[in-house]
Amino acid sequence: MKKSIYFYLRGAKIISIVLIVFVTASIFFIFIEIQKLKIKSEAHLKINRNLALVTTVTSLISTVNKIGKDKSEEKDTLLHIIIDSVEKDNSTLYTTLILISSFVNHKSRRNTIRKSWGNSSNWNTEEKYLIVFVVGRVMNTNSMIEIAEEAKLQKDILYLDVFEDFYLLTKKVIIGLIWAKHNINFKALLKGDDDTFMNLDNIMKFVKHNEVTDGYFGNKIDRAYVKRSGRYQVTKDERNESNYNPYCSGGGFILTNSSVYKMIPIFDLKKIFRIDDVFIGEVAYKVGIKVRGAKGFYMYNSWCEYKKDIMVSHPSIDSECNSFLLKRSMIDNKKLPRNIELESTRCYKNIKECINS
Ligand SMILES: *[C@@H]1O[C@H](CO)[C@@H](O)[C@H](O)[C@H]1NC(C)=O
Ligand SMILES: *[C@@H]1O[C@H](CO)[C@@H](O)[C@H](O)[C@H]1NC(C)=O
Ligand SMILES: *[C@@H]1O[C@H](CO)[C@@H](O)[C@H](O)[C@H]1NC(C)=O
Ligand SMILES: *[C@@H]1O[C@H](CO)[C@@H](O)[C@H](O)[C@H]1NC(C)=O
Repeated sequence: MKKSIYFYLRGAKIISIVLIVFVTASIFFIFIEIQKLKIKSEAHLKINRNLALVTTVTSLISTVNKIGKDKSEEKDTLLHIIIDSVEKDNSTLYTTLILISSFVNHKSRRNTIRKSWGNSSNWNTEEKYLIVFVVGRVMNTNSMIEIAEEAKLQKDILYLDVFEDFYLLTKKVIIGLIWAKHNINFKALLKGDDDTFMNLDNIMKFVKHNEVTDGYFGNKIDRAYVKRSGRYQVTKDERNESNYNPYCSGGGFILTNSSVYKMIPIFDLKKIFRIDDVFIGEVAYKVGIKVRGAKGFYMYNSWCEYKKDIMVSHPSIDSECNSFLLKRSMIDNKKLPRNIELESTRCYKNIKECINS
């Protein structure tokens, strides 16, 4: 039987419908795939933003968590740590743990330290040490993104949910010390600031040869007057007496392990004294730790004068001063060849003042 023309036409119609459905479906799926790809690349762009949001949220949560708790336990204190990026080895006994209080936006100071005196290739010592930067937070998303990235890259940052504020520096020290107790085996701890130069060979030698058990060493300040105005202003409610107990300048001082352990039970984040170095002096006084002045802590070295026995020199904000002190130390340590011109220079800055001093 001859099939009618309609039969073929119907067949063609069916085939074209199938084709149309197929093509439409393909276009639809391709469209979906393109959308997926778009979403993926957008997600990449958004990762950084989300990281900041997560950080913000985490910090908000941990702030909320503490409301209503009145026990100031060590574990609670550790909740203030938003990011602990520190690469540590828990089977190592570190001769010195160096905790540097650093303002979150001072990335360039931290990089100067990492490249100069923080780089172990520049020193002879074989003692183990660890440099950790303790930073706080600010109300700025970019700062938070940047510090999270820096922490991930450098693995030497403790990022706290403590606001960056001159009067909250004590909190950084307290949290840093408690973190140290729970994370690091160390003979001594050096608390310092990010505007310093440190001679690690001299520090390691000092700690290695130290025999004082409850040690607290640095530039000792004896019975300083309590200031009632200016930056260091303190009210009578905060301290009624007119003098402070002895303490060491906060730019850099050393506590032995046993001193850190003795001080920690006294710490209470709700009862801080806002000048951090004075605070440590008061705590030492309460637990019966003697403050000892030690050589090598040059806390007012504004003209950046080199001395062979430097352990800590302050201030050393610009990388040039830092580099000058490092080069001079390296020449003395025979890590660099002699250099008559450099060796005849005593100070990096304000040469006149230096000569007159
Ligand atoms: C060291 O760290 C590892 C991994 O985090 C852990 O399993 C181990 O118990 C730690 N050892 C000590 C002595 O704390
Ligand atoms: C430390 O110094 C060595 C040798 O000069 C160098 O190769 C290395 O890149 C330095 N590290 C940093 C973090 O600057
Ligand atoms: C400070 O001490 C004086 C004398 O002992 C006392 O009269 C005064 O009430 C005290 N002030 C405060 C704020 O504690
Ligand atoms: C630090 O001191 C504590 C308490 O005195 C002690 O238990 C601990 O073993 C000490 N750690 C080191 C590394 O000396």
